[in-house]
Amino acid sequence: MEFTIKVVSPEKLQTGLLVVGVLTGAPLSPSSRAVDEASQGGLSKLVSKGELDDKAGSTVLLHGLAGVAAERVLLVSFGKAGAFGDRPWRDAFAAIGGALAATVAKDAAIVLDETALPSGRDAAWALRQAGRIVADGAYRFESPGAEKKHKKKHGAAKIAFILSNTGEALEEALRQGRAIAEGMALAKDLGNLGANVCTPAYLADIARGLGKQYKFEVDVLERDDMEKLGMGAFLAVAHGARQSPRFIVMHHRGEKPYKGKGGKPKSHPVTLIGKGITFDSGGISLKPGAEMDEMKYDMCGAASVIGVFKTIAAMALPLDVTGIVPATENMPGGNASRPGDVVRSLSGQTIEILNTDAEGRLILCDALTYAERFKPGCVIDIATLTGACVVALGKIPSGLLANDDELAEELTQRGMDAGDRVWRLPLWEEYQDLLKSHFADMANIGGRFGGAITAAAFLSRFAKAYKWAHLDIAGTAWLSGDAKGATGRPLPLLAEFLLARASKGKH
Ligand code: BES
Ligand code: MN
Ligand code: ZN
Repeated sequence: MEFTIKVVSPEKLQTGLLVVGVLTGAPLSPSSRAVDEASQGGLSKLVSKGELDDKAGSTVLLHGLAGVAAERVLLVSFGKAGAFGDRPWRDAFAAIGGALAATVAKDAAIVLDETALPSGRDAAWALRQAGRIVADGAYRFESPGAEKKHKKKHGAAKIAFILSNTGEALEEALRQGRAIAEGMALAKDLGNLGANVCTPAYLADIARGLGKQYKFEVDVLERDDMEKLGMGAFLAVAHGARQSPRFIVMHHRGEKPYKGKGGKPKSHPVTLIGKGITFDSGGISLKPGAEMDEMKYDMCGAASVIGVFKTIAAMALPLDVTGIVPATENMPGGNASRPGDVVRSLSGQTIEILNTDAEGRLILCDALTYAERFKPGCVIDIATLTGACVVALGKIPSGLLANDDELAEELTQRGMDAGDRVWRLPLWEEYQDLLKSHFADMANIGGRFGGAITAAAFLSRFAKAYKWAHLDIAGTAWLSGDAKGATGRPLPLLAEFLLARASKGKH
């Protein structure tokens, strides 16, 4: 898919499909009016007859509209003027993305009206979001080796955004949107692949491949490296698996090295840690059979970290970012950890494993300790950690827990900017009591109540050395039912966060 920005009169543009937006109850915007006038009221007649539903994202397709150079015109509703905001704007672009992915037209142009943006949003924001949403709309997954599910070769390959002016900042915003969609496509692919293909070694190969392509550093630790380091919690999960574990570390060095005291280069990278359980059977505390296939998605945190590395590498983001992916299966077997086992984490703290299905926190805690060596500016872990988070928040926001209010606020804001929202849950001291163990410093589960919080309370014990936030993406990383598949979330949020951090550094 090729994206361009064009500064043209929309009615005069020769294109397979021209997309024009309409806001009910408001006068047509200047560009829509130009198309309307050229077609002698072709649009306004339709709208006044009520042919275009006023629900944002509704569409009407017109063929051969007289006076307009485009072969087809797609009218898209941005909803009622009184209810306008980010959400209807996004819904409209999601519909546009769907239509452009299905059209027989080879090329298309979207009128991106700077006069019809949600309040507080500018053209650069709009291009980044629209570019991402439209490119993401064309995403299709094919299982390797299986018969193709998507045979039709439809979809516009060349897409122009029509604006009233352009410039380097807008071109860049569009490239960012594209890079975010490409990172999401990688994250979705990794999530959608079966665990027989997407193994810990496979994740490491993908990371290494990206490192080669974009020239960033990738280090991969194997089982004996982790044994030497003393990652007893991570290894307790890896024990039951035939697939050998990997601990993947990536470094994107985007800042100019500057010298701190003593001439040493100083950097405090944003550090991202992604849960990489390539399949979560529950281990000896085996999960019930229903929907167990969905536990192939238990590496979606890892996928979002690897995916966002592709995004920031493609954008050459001027920010130092470190990515850590502890990757293993969680399987039952003769060598698997048992309930009652006590293990020693990399931090030295001991853990009584009361439930082998609470494995995410066991691999993350060693990664959190490992992260200390990079002197991170902040650490964000991303994990499909608890079913309890899905019960608490549903599948709309990701759960957010943090030991730093400013970082939590920053993530909340960037989530709104990206349309990839989070909702904060408390992490009060009282919750720590629930992790008491008779035989170790702590247990790996906290009882029946507040499961998303007790999981984060467990992690917080390993994240005391820096500002830390935890994103529980169990509800948001994939969808079930008709729309089954990985969503690529929370990559848009992470990308928006990193972009904002990078531009803060510039000023
Ligand atoms: N990967 C699961 C969390 C999960 C469950 C994500 C369902 C999405 C849907 C995690 O490893 C897990 O099994 N968590 C347990 C924790 C419990 C044993 C304390 C859970 O949520 O049931
Ligand atoms: Mn589990
Ligand atoms: Zn899990």
